[in-house]
Amino acid sequence: MFDPGTGQSRVLVIEDSKVDQLVYRRTLHEFDLEFADSGESGLERIAAERFDLVVLDFHLPRLNGDEVLARIKGGSDPELPVVMVTGGGNENVAVEMLKRGASDYVTKDDLHTPRVASAVRGALERHRLDLARRRAEDELRRRKDELETALRKLQEAQAHLVQSEKMASLGQLVAGVAHEINNPLSYVTNNLAVLDRDVGLVVKMMAAYRDHLGPALPESIAEAERDCDLDYTLSNLDRLIASTRQGLRRVGEIVAGLRDFSRLDEAEQKMIDPNDPVRTTVEMVRFHVRHREIKLEVDLAPLPQACCNPGQLNQVLLNLLMNAIQAVGPGASIAVRTRLEPDGSAFRYEVVDDGPGIPESVLGKIFDPFFTTKPQGVGTGLGLWITYNIVQEHGGWIEVQTAQGTGTTFVVTLPIRAYAAECS
Ligand SMILES: Nc1ncnc2c1ncn2[C@@H]1O[C@H](COP(=O)(O)OP(=O)(O)OP(=O)(O)O)[C@@H](O)[C@H]1O
Ligand SMILES: [Mg+2]
Repeated sequence: MFDPGTGQSRVLVIEDSKVDQLVYRRTLHEFDLEFADSGESGLERIAAERFDLVVLDFHLPRLNGDEVLARIKGGSDPELPVVMVTGGGNENVAVEMLKRGASDYVTKDDLHTPRVASAVRGALERHRLDLARRRAEDELRRRKDELETALRKLQEAQAHLVQSEKMASLGQLVAGVAHEINNPLSYVTNNLAVLDRDVGLVVKMMAAYRDHLGPALPESIAEAERDCDLDYTLSNLDRLIASTRQGLRRVGEIVAGLRDFSRLDEAEQKMIDPNDPVRTTVEMVRFHVRHREIKLEVDLAPLPQACCNPGQLNQVLLNLLMNAIQAVGPGASIAVRTRLEPDGSAFRYEVVDDGPGIPESVLGKIFDPFFTTKPQGVGTGLGLWITYNIVQEHGGWIEVQTAQGTGTTFVVTLPIRAYAAECS
């Protein structure tokens, strides 16, 4: 090996002729020389020690120079520079040796000339430069990998921030709206109960008046009764109040749905009916569905309770449903289904649309953060990335089947973790 003490490179000369060995001692005196008398002993020494370069005679007994070269190049240090020494005037062999990995060659005719030392020096220098270049390339590659990793982490952190900000402000907005509606809803509901009771009393009173007066009812009042179709009006009051109560109950359900939904950012694991997030989310998107005249089929299979983060599952379903709604045109159909796996170990959410499908060129990128084909302001490209992460965190997986012009189906499969520590 290159000796920093003497500054000499360690060179192994594989040469069977003692006379030639003496010549090398003279012409290569500036190097730390070692000798091997045969190809076999040379290879043994290369395997056991470190050399900076090998000078290899082509004509050796038994194992010839080209075979030794092949073994060096196929061995543990294939980069070890080899200068071949070929018979005089045999340029073809020399060129062949260069092709097989020799660094340079000299002929036996050059042996007494400075050409041998300059070939060794040149080969050592090229090897040194080669090593330095390779080290620089490795370093560059390592730095590039580091930068790419840092960039990816940065993008993911940014995506998390944007998404949690988006969801937090959506949650606040929804919670605020729910709260605002809840106030008038509760006093209207209370008033309706009082109204129901009081109208009942008034109806009873009127019946008493009518019974008492009978035929003595003044004509002007009888005419007023006929004008307002009093019998029908009185008989209709109960139905009117019942349908108003039903309407208020519906508003109450919507408010409860909004409240449920606004708990999106709660990082909370709970035992839930996995159909609940579907019901909540379908309420949230119903406006968009109706507005765009989309047929929405909701098909829920009975599912066992499972340990999940309901807020996060709302988010998964909202992302998939909004993508489907945004993909299809008016009058299209979307289906959201739940299914239990036959062995009961997992359940599936399926969101199916009959939209245009996802082109092949886009399909590989849809789960990347910030990838969107939608105009600025419509999509941030985070929906499916977040969805993918949530599904992973739940130990599940997401699949997509799509065909151009036929539609897209997203299937989320989640294991039923009934006894997770967080839920016990
Ligand atoms: N059902 C679908 N049909 C057709 N293309 C879809 C469907 N779902 C997703 N895509 C494609 O995948 C892309 C990425 O979807 P993703 O939900 O991650 O982002 P986005 O919807 O564009 O924006 P964001 O969800 O953040 O508002 C979409 O821009 C769209 O090109
Ligand atoms: Mg989306």
